[in-house]
Amino acid sequence: MGDLGFNYRHTPFRYVSRWKDGKWDDGVLTEDNILHINESSPALHYGQQCFEGMKAYRTKDNKIQLFRPDENSKRLNRSCSRLLMPSIPYEKFIDAVKQVVLANEDIVPAYGNGETFYLRPFVIGVGENIGIHAAKEYLFVVFGLPVGKYFAGGLNQVDFCTTDYDRAAPNGTGANKVGGNYAASFYPKKLAREAGFVECIYLDPLTHTKIEEVGAANFFAITQDNKFVTPISNSILPSITKYSLLHLAKERLGLEVEERDCYIENLKEFKEAGACGTAAIITPIRSISHKDWTHYFDNGEEVGPVTQKLYDTLVGIQFGDVEAPEGWIEIVK
Ligand SMILES: Cc1ncc(COP(=O)(O)O)c(C=O)c1O
Repeated sequence: MGDLGFNYRHTPFRYVSRWKDGKWDDGVLTEDNILHINESSPALHYGQQCFEGMKAYRTKDNKIQLFRPDENSKRLNRSCSRLLMPSIPYEKFIDAVKQVVLANEDIVPAYGNGETFYLRPFVIGVGENIGIHAAKEYLFVVFGLPVGKYFAGGLNQVDFCTTDYDRAAPNGTGANKVGGNYAASFYPKKLAREAGFVECIYLDPLTHTKIEEVGAANFFAITQDNKFVTPISNSILPSITKYSLLHLAKERLGLEVEERDCYIENLKEFKEAGACGTAAIITPIRSISHKDWTHYFDNGEEVGPVTQKLYDTLVGIQFGDVEAPEGWIEIVK
């Protein structure tokens, strides 16, 4: 993969639409990357905002395509509904995303080194407001930028540690992609970085015995008898990548799959483990440190064979080199 990394950069066009008096306007593309919003906007004070992360991929034959954008749209609307924000009809969502990709077409990275055009749709509550209640006006914005690796290392193995902090409460907003979950994760991430780890692993907030999230990615593992396993909990963000891997593990690799508890004290049941997400793609986990011990997965410095196959299948589908399950790919051009 090239060395773009995962950093903000100014790009020519973004899309902005406003919700006012009960409806969305048509939305426009603009070159202005500064939002002009009221100082009392609920997004600024009460965290009334949610977002998505998705990518546009350039294929070998120079098409540009999206991976399961309907799932991003559904998740954005679930987040909106949890925070009492108006939903975005799918037609509007996909039209906005495509407009941004096409308007920035020249900077969608070339096929071949794993780089992509990352898209960030978001909804924020704006307008005059001081009481603790939902906004009366909203902005739906989509911007994008070329990106490379999220975790340094690409398909190299990385080390994680658990944290005593929680990113979400048992019946809170962990399953929604809302800003508050992420603000709460900055400090534990800083501590993990200072201790020499790439990110921290969150355990279930109620008992602190089960793995939930790997930073801003979901966890999966391969058992000693070759099952694909991933945690289940209502405080985990339902990762589109994770559910895609569940499907591919079963249908393409012929593995048994299980969504069930993954106990931190029982890591020896797994021979491979990884973090997965739009940004993280698949990042193999070399070790997990918890309290006073460190568990190393079986493959040493090598990427496990199942993880490698899952990566090749997923990334192959995203870049158009491997046939996709029906409905997973939306062509932009
Ligand atoms: C907390 C968290 N978990 C998991 C994921 C992975 O989800 P997805 O595969 O839909 O990108 C993300 C990124 O969106 C995330 O922020």
